[in-house]
Amino acid sequence: MAQQPANSANIIIFGGNGDLAWRKLYPALYNLYIYGFLPKQFSIYGIDYLPNDNENYKTHILQGINNFSRSGKADKKKWEAFSKNIQYMQGDFTKTDIFKELEKTFSDNDKKFKTRAERICYFSVSPKFIETIADSLSKLKLLPEPKHDRIIIEKPFGTDLKSAQHLNAFLLKRFSEKQIFRIDHYLGKETVQNIMAFRFANNVFDPLWNNRHVDYVQITVAEEVSVGNRGGYYDGAGALRDMIQNHLLQLLCVVAMECPANYEPETVRNAKVDVLKAIRKYKQEDVFKNFVRAQYTAGEFNNIHQVGYKQEKDVSKNSTTETFVAGKFFIDNLRWKGVPFYLRTGKSLAKQASVIVIQFKDSPHKIFKDDKEPNRLIFSIQPEQEISLLFESKVPGVDLKLKAVEMDFTYRESYTEAVPEAYEDLLLDVLKGDATLFMRADQIENAWKVVMPILDAWKKNPLRDLKTYKPGTWGPKAANDLIKKDHFEWILLPEQLSVGKMDK
Ligand code: BG6
Repeated sequence: MAQQPANSANIIIFGGNGDLAWRKLYPALYNLYIYGFLPKQFSIYGIDYLPNDNENYKTHILQGINNFSRSGKADKKKWEAFSKNIQYMQGDFTKTDIFKELEKTFSDNDKKFKTRAERICYFSVSPKFIETIADSLSKLKLLPEPKHDRIIIEKPFGTDLKSAQHLNAFLLKRFSEKQIFRIDHYLGKETVQNIMAFRFANNVFDPLWNNRHVDYVQITVAEEVSVGNRGGYYDGAGALRDMIQNHLLQLLCVVAMECPANYEPETVRNAKVDVLKAIRKYKQEDVFKNFVRAQYTAGEFNNIHQVGYKQEKDVSKNSTTETFVAGKFFIDNLRWKGVPFYLRTGKSLAKQASVIVIQFKDSPHKIFKDDKEPNRLIFSIQPEQEISLLFESKVPGVDLKLKAVEMDFTYRESYTEAVPEAYEDLLLDVLKGDATLFMRADQIENAWKVVMPILDAWKKNPLRDLKTYKPGTWGPKAANDLIKKDHFEWILLPEQLSVGKMDK
């Protein structure tokens, strides 16, 4: 694994006009450039279907950087220097012309750079183009060197186990596993990477990290945003496919994995795959006992009237697609047997918050009357970025009263360094050829194996127990009932953290 990117690279963005390129990829590349992480010589090609003029294209990219880059508006000189390396290429992914043009571009650049430059192809395209593009790249032998040539595949990676297996087989016939970088941007988030550092660089918690001491784990990824104009994609996906199969299961893996022998791609990914394999696969009846799904209805949210999910653009009026999921998983291995892992995610919820809670068990022998629950570790992934340990403390005074207090580590207070965007980290890793934070074929397939029984049960019973919720709430009451049955509560907002109040 290289520690530094090579000196020269071609970066190709298939879908160069798309939203992901505009909001995330170009701002990330620009930041890598200004902080000195891009190769000394590089060329970026945005490829897309519609004709576009190079200058127009760059103006559009600059707007994206100005709107979305964490470093704010682009500096004029730096933008000029960076944008010299950007070029728009118009092309139809289903025809060979654009690939022939690429072939020539690669060979011209090798001459210009006086070296064989790396070739990085980002598939920022609708899934229907993945195989077509991969096939052409392979037929024309445009990425022949596994050590230097890579492809990056965005999610969704398949729509179920079968299609994911098919896509893996298709790609692996044309490229080696080492060349394929399947991206899950949650793994690039600084706060997610830090969970591994927290767990494996500090021995203090390790003796407690198991079913003898952990009561339950909660993983919440709540979004305020609605489905908005993504109905066309979302209605065929739903929250289980869109969020649980990838992002939340990956968070679960990071929390539950064994310490790998070293921090190398294969050992880290093996440890995650072991977790996925150990997750209990449910039978149909268990699915309805352990999972809740719901759709948001119309309602007022932040003083704005929001349409219901079924009224969103490109969503079927009879849709049964879920915009909210809450569920309970078990990991059947020595470390975690019997510990419930509660996961929930949804759109149009009260607040954007991604939080992981590790609740330690109550003391078996309580000597204080109002010793309630803390004993709790919280990883706030976004928008707050912090790790807090909550514990009971005596309130100063003559009475013996206890109250939960927090010991906090926040990025803001502890570091002057800026927190990079997930896509910056991940793009740099691709340039270095480091696949540690990317999904291996078996990781993707094992994640699908976890969610397939749930998808199947819902598909067979499209209306059974399909709940609704108002925008701006924490989802349907059934989600609270699910966890209340086990005598626990969802924990989330800072004001709830110390008192453990129920959600509304
Ligand atoms: C994407 C999903 O993968 O992740 C979106 O397709 C979701 O529906 C997004 O909004 C959430 O990512 P983040 O980084 O904003 O939490």
